[in-house]
Amino acid sequence: MPLQQTQVINILKTTFIPGTKQMLLSLGTLEGININENNVAISVKIPKISDENLKKLKEILNNRIKQLGATEINIEINFKTEQRIKNIIAIASGKGGVGKSTVSTNIAIALAKSGKKVGVLDADIHGPNLPVMFGISEKPLVNENKRIIPLERYGVKVISLGFMVDSQSTPIIWRGPLVTKAIEQLYNDVEWGELDYLLIDLPPETGDAALTVMQSLPLKYGIIVTTPQDVSVADASKALKMFTQMKIPVLGVIENMSYFICPKCGETTEIFGHGGGEKISLENGVPFLDKIPLETKTREGGDNGTPAVVSSEETETKRIFIRIAKKIIKSTQAD
Ligand SMILES: Nc1ncnc2c1ncn2[C@@H]1O[C@H](COP(=O)(O)OP(=O)(O)OP(=O)(O)O)[C@@H](O)[C@H]1O
Ligand SMILES: [Mg+2]
Repeated sequence: MPLQQTQVINILKTTFIPGTKQMLLSLGTLEGININENNVAISVKIPKISDENLKKLKEILNNRIKQLGATEINIEINFKTEQRIKNIIAIASGKGGVGKSTVSTNIAIALAKSGKKVGVLDADIHGPNLPVMFGISEKPLVNENKRIIPLERYGVKVISLGFMVDSQSTPIIWRGPLVTKAIEQLYNDVEWGELDYLLIDLPPETGDAALTVMQSLPLKYGIIVTTPQDVSVADASKALKMFTQMKIPVLGVIENMSYFICPKCGETTEIFGHGGGEKISLENGVPFLDKIPLETKTREGGDNGTPAVVSSEETETKRIFIRIAKKIIKSTQAD
């Protein structure tokens, strides 16, 4: 019986990468497979390992594929390009609509204004919002090494699945393994260059995308966004516990929509209650970063691609985002 592709893929799935505790296809990707009667050619991409381990891996694969009855075996193993990113920070909330994307966008720009090299990755693959918030409508190009060049706006390199799909309004319904693959590609296959910070804007809930970011990307820190009200606080606590379980330090909690500033009279009202963000940080022993007001201009800026921190006016919101960026720089500088 001729060799079957599934037999070879099964071997790839059940072979450990020497020097790691991971299977070949959980850390690596299959780039090509060609089976012609008893001839097998495969090409895989894995994270960098030592020459010795690479030799071992080739030998193991060779022996296992030979046992299937293959007579000519050609194994090509390439290394994934290592990203040169100092701090990867995921922005999470648990509850949807509390302002993760707004906060990610404005903090990224504020960090860039402080002279840092910054990127943002929109990991909300079901409803990517960053292209609109950054006011980007073009599509990224691919360079000669087949790597995606991020689009740059306000000094920040931006990548989002929203760039790859046709319309912002078409919902993307992807599950499990596809979600994982898409997020890994948005990280691995992008020419980020050297970065001080890569912020990852997570989708709401602690689902597949959040898990992938925490398990498959070299995440260094988390930031939690919440509104002051109880329902948001409960969900934010879940997100915070997810970071703690994965042993990822949380830089702090940001309370968004803390109070409304009336655009007419300047009076402030605590629409969503009071103190939720401080409560989470106290209960979990993580810093409280700041409170951000609910302002009509912030929403408008998000909708028309001119985020609050790029406004020419010296608004309170702008000052707060710049203050948060400074705190982030301070607490990550020891690295
Ligand atoms: N401080 C603020 N003042 C005014 N509007 C705000 C503020 N923060 C967020 N918004 C607005 O609230 C809406 C939701 O914000 P955003 O998209 O940032 O939330 P999200 O947590 O990323 O949502 P999702 O869970 O859907 O990803 C947007 O229209 C945004 O412009
Ligand atoms: Mg969002």
